Amino acid sequence: MCGCLRIGVVGAGFVGERHMDAIRRIGQAHLVAVVDTDYDLAHARSEQYGIPRCGVAIDEILDEVDVIHNCTPNNMHVEVNTKAIRAGKHIFSEKPLALNTTESRAMLDCLRRNPKVVHAVNFNYRMNPMVQEMKQKIAANEIGDVLLVHGAYLQDWLMFDTDYNWRLEPSVGGPLRAIADIGSHWIDAVQTVVGSSIAEVCADLATLIPIRKKRKDDRAATFSKGGGTDYELRPVTTEDYGAVLFRMRNGARGVFYVSQVSAGRKNCLYLEVDGTKSSLYWNQERPEEIFIGNRDSASLLMTRSPDQLSAQAASYACLPAGHPEGWNDALLNNIRAFYRFIADGKVPGVDDCDFATFEDGHRVMQIAEAILSSSRTRSWVSVDGRERHMRRVEQLHVSRTVQIWAQRLWEQETALSRNLRLALRQPVGEFPYQGLELCVSD
Ligand SMILES: NC(=O)c1ccc[n+]([C@@H]2O[C@H](COP(=O)([O-])OP(=O)(O)OC[C@H]3O[C@@H](n4cnc5c(N)ncnc54)[C@H](O)[C@@H]3O)[C@@H](O)[C@H]2O)c1
Repeated sequence: MCGCLRIGVVGAGFVGERHMDAIRRIGQAHLVAVVDTDYDLAHARSEQYGIPRCGVAIDEILDEVDVIHNCTPNNMHVEVNTKAIRAGKHIFSEKPLALNTTESRAMLDCLRRNPKVVHAVNFNYRMNPMVQEMKQKIAANEIGDVLLVHGAYLQDWLMFDTDYNWRLEPSVGGPLRAIADIGSHWIDAVQTVVGSSIAEVCADLATLIPIRKKRKDDRAATFSKGGGTDYELRPVTTEDYGAVLFRMRNGARGVFYVSQVSAGRKNCLYLEVDGTKSSLYWNQERPEEIFIGNRDSASLLMTRSPDQLSAQAASYACLPAGHPEGWNDALLNNIRAFYRFIADGKVPGVDDCDFATFEDGHRVMQIAEAILSSSRTRSWVSVDGRERHMRRVEQLHVSRTVQIWAQRLWEQETALSRNLRLALRQPVGEFPYQGLELCVSD
């Protein structure tokens, strides 16, 4: 089985430690190395988890492992993942898969040249038993045709201007923040339960705290509190808040919003699916419950009880009813599914898997970029239409800077044609010249 597989974890911060804990609990493979650019942290984790080897870079351990868990900040995902894939190592990467679709597409190209590498992205919410139960109920047509999908992902750990983290810096976190960091989870969870993907988006993103105070001692761990008096002022360009209208390929309509500045909301991901017969609602802060909404009979609160779940969803429940399972257990389920896939000798792209693959991670990146384009152009954007455009640009083999120009040009053209369409519908004398000029000069 997997017992002989040797695992190296790259990045030993907040989520890296959760991976180590889950790997230990699963017990199917050996944790043999941990690296972090902060050597003291890597060393502390190696002592904590009894890991024989620690270091500061992936290159030091690549020859000694069979699997890499990439738990580094977003800007390091492409480099670490690509090194692992090229070396023929299975790769379990954190989300979002990359900073942009150029990077995520490059990883897919790399995987095509290394087809035996098993790849996963840690979209862990889909592995909660109650999310799987929603998926089964929808697939079994228990709620009828899916009409609407709605929800949110709200946090408050970045609500003060003294709150700071690498996620706020586009060069590390990427050009999108709330959407990429937490919206990506929401998108994956919804696409999983509905069994369809988001095809078109119309978004409004906002940076509500445009200047933040970064502590000079640079202690800005994930979910840590800001504060102190010795800080420097930093401009922020990424969104604290985003709202997205969307249409799915199966025809369902939806809306969600994300925020990292909503007081009292710690990790509040919730989603609701409205069907022609009934609705289903799940909130990750009450992960053991699904609300089943009915109109002509009593609505129900279903709690996690393995013998009452569908057989498929029950396989994601580790504990008996009344022994709560949540975020940590869903993460464990994701890692376990990945190792089972390897142990069963399954082949990526051929055999079905329940965890998110790099293809899924790339699709989420495409949707995230369409959301950014939509917010900039104040218009609906087709995810596939934008992807086709960007592929054509990439095939020209121009530099990344030229690609970004091409993207902005496309956005301006989109805004321009939208405004022209709007203008043509106006009575003579009321053309919105001002909006037109603004978009062209953006
Ligand atoms: N799936 C989830 O629910 C979930 C939750 C939190 C974070 N994440 C993702 O995990 C990643 C890490 O987030 P975090 O909150 O753990 O951040 P973190 O800042 O707590 O930890 C990141 C660690 O990576 C180290 N690091 C940076 N560059 C490195 C490199 N080149 N090689 C080795 N180590 C390096 C840093 O020193 C740090 O210790 C992010 O991509 C984030 O989006 C996912």
